[in-house]
Amino acid sequence: MTLDPALALDATERWGTPLYLTDLDAAAARLALYHAAFPGALIAYAIKANADPQLLRRLAADGAGCEVVTAVELARALRAGCPAHRIVMNGVGKRDEELHLALAAGALINAESVDELVRLLALAADHAGARIGVRLNPALDAETHPHLATGAAGAKFGISLADLPEVLSRFQAAGQPVASLGAHIGSNIDSLEPFAELALRLAAAATQATAAGLPPERIDIGGGLAGADPEALADAVRPAFPDTARLILEPGRSLVADAGWLLTRVVRTQPRPEAACGYLVADAGMTELIRPMLYGASHRVSLVAPGEPFSATGATHLAGPICEAGDILARDLAQWLSPDELARAGVGALLAIHQVGAYGAAMASTYNGRLRPAEVVLEGGELRLSRRRETLDDLIARDA
Ligand code: LLP
Repeated sequence: MTLDPALALDATERWGTPLYLTDLDAAAARLALYHAAFPGALIAYAIKANADPQLLRRLAADGAGCEVVTAVELARALRAGCPAHRIVMNGVGKRDEELHLALAAGALINAESVDELVRLLALAADHAGARIGVRLNPALDAETHPHLATGAAGAKFGISLADLPEVLSRFQAAGQPVASLGAHIGSNIDSLEPFAELALRLAAAATQATAAGLPPERIDIGGGLAGADPEALADAVRPAFPDTARLILEPGRSLVADAGWLLTRVVRTQPRPEAACGYLVADAGMTELIRPMLYGASHRVSLVAPGEPFSATGATHLAGPICEAGDILARDLAQWLSPDELARAGVGALLAIHQVGAYGAAMASTYNGRLRPAEVVLEGGELRLSRRRETLDDLIARDA
């Protein structure tokens, strides 16, 4: 996905920095690839990745569903015009109020523990047509950062395969159909192999359920794909599930990561010749993008507009303004910027951090008294404010 520097500059002139910019057409194009690769399937966008209201509206209008994990996300999905029959709720610690709201709305709710399933089946007795599914733990170790491996045997998510017989007898006793059987094995997964393996395990579980007289209505293979083509994912799961119309997918990152940037200005420079390094200090930091610090993630940086001349004193890192030594957005800018670009990246330079469309704004915090940036969307070549910048009044509104 390419960023038009003139548009980026225009956006920052209008709304300041730091600024999140999301290209709705780019996200919609990714959604279209999913729809083409999985005809008839429900593509339930994991809105935890980026719940920008206009992004949600656009994806819902283009036929996406929403994967939600809290009552607030459920409300956001409904407000964005996503019909309840396209909403899937997961979550390992959903409280009764949240289950009530999701049942009342008519969302598909996945139980993540036997404990929760028992509660959910009891609550569902008051809701004719309730759709209850099961999120399994497939005990599958996808290769990714340990924080992102949700399908591993020891992870807190999903019901163990060993408990499937008990799960099925609970459904039978309640006279409730199995609306969905699925799993989500983790995030930022580059390889397709774990998805092929997941599909085989889910197919075996579905056979078991069918034998018990409970054929699952849908199969949910979750999200987690890093950047690969949805068509490649379809190829990986096709041997187990040739009929894509039965599938639910929950992509987050692979829909929106490439469609978003964090625009930030260099405010100071910090030479450290004695340590053979130096810093450009930006007006964005871990409060706007925590991924480098939390997962060691590496995000490409590009120069949008030059600032004052800059002479490097060794490896130049991009730091944020937060009072933490680990507040580094990118290490060794020479991997992204040419020597000529770096020499123009001093105070006042405008930089773009790439692949921030997923888990950027969504994980922003107000640590150090930081006001969360504005969010701007690009659609049909036009820029629009989607969320205004937070103010001091917003921050203190809850103070007693
Ligand atoms: N479904 C469920 C149940 C999930 O928990 C998640 C993400 C998704 C779908 C979407 O996964 P995706 O396609 O985006 O990989 N903050 C981390 C990512 C955490 C993902 C949590 N669950 C990061 O910045 O990398």
